[in-house]
Amino acid sequence: MALNAQPLSDKFAVAITGVDLSKELDQELFDEIVDIFVRKQVVVFRDQHIEPQHQLAFSRKFGPLEMLFDDDQRVAGFPEVAILSNEKVAGKFIGVVAAGDFWHSDQSYRKTPSLATMLYAHKIPKIGGDTEFADMHGAYESLPDEIKKRIEGRMGINQRSKLGNHRVAVTREGGEEYYQRKAANNVLHPMVRTHPVTGRKGLYVSPRFTVGIEGMDDAEAQPLLDTLFAYQTAPGNVYRHKWTLGDFVMWDNRSLNHQACGGYAMDDIRLMHRTSTIGDEPFA
Ligand SMILES: [Fe+2]
Repeated sequence: MALNAQPLSDKFAVAITGVDLSKELDQELFDEIVDIFVRKQVVVFRDQHIEPQHQLAFSRKFGPLEMLFDDDQRVAGFPEVAILSNEKVAGKFIGVVAAGDFWHSDQSYRKTPSLATMLYAHKIPKIGGDTEFADMHGAYESLPDEIKKRIEGRMGINQRSKLGNHRVAVTREGGEEYYQRKAANNVLHPMVRTHPVTGRKGLYVSPRFTVGIEGMDDAEAQPLLDTLFAYQTAPGNVYRHKWTLGDFVMWDNRSLNHQACGGYAMDDIRLMHRTSTIGDEPFA
């Protein structure tokens, strides 16, 4: 069976059938997938039946893997596979609840953020649980020249903690304590990032992690950030993924922001296995 790719939106995101990620992929097929990934930014592999070892083997082909979250939020025996879920066993959540609930690019509060993130849907809720993606190249290209000039060469201030970021809210139980425990220094990244493979420029700021602009007063910086975030979510710039059981979705954090849309009941179980690869330091 040959790879078949169908567009999911006008500009980016494709669905692939005819590929079984539980099998070893030959080099030609893998190169084709990498090419689609870089050009289309969101790749949805349909009808997958995979275990953590298969997810790890495929993910590793894209680079060294990150180890995220706490020990008890990862698959036993597979520490690079994190669990995102609202499921409880013996009264305790089995993974990270309400992960990614505001627009962001993964790990952009670190010097070397994530490159590819992969999510495999083991359980999906009857209602809700979508994931939205915003094309940050498209957002940058749609900016008026006057705004492009104002952000050229500027560095965004990025911060892990939700505390002190007026654009987000702590939504998970015990979240305040969690963010105090995880508090870290601000990290500066260029607000306009060049994709290392395609050379395309894109915005590299997000409501979740970008809290200011280096060397610019908040009186000017905050309205400017609001304007950039509005371009990011403009009609036609967003793809909303409605999950089907067996979807394996990977995306390029160098090109996109994303968010988990939520909207499901706590007894309507969503269970995702997540892997992600460490990327390069963003450059202008
Ligand atoms: Fe995320």
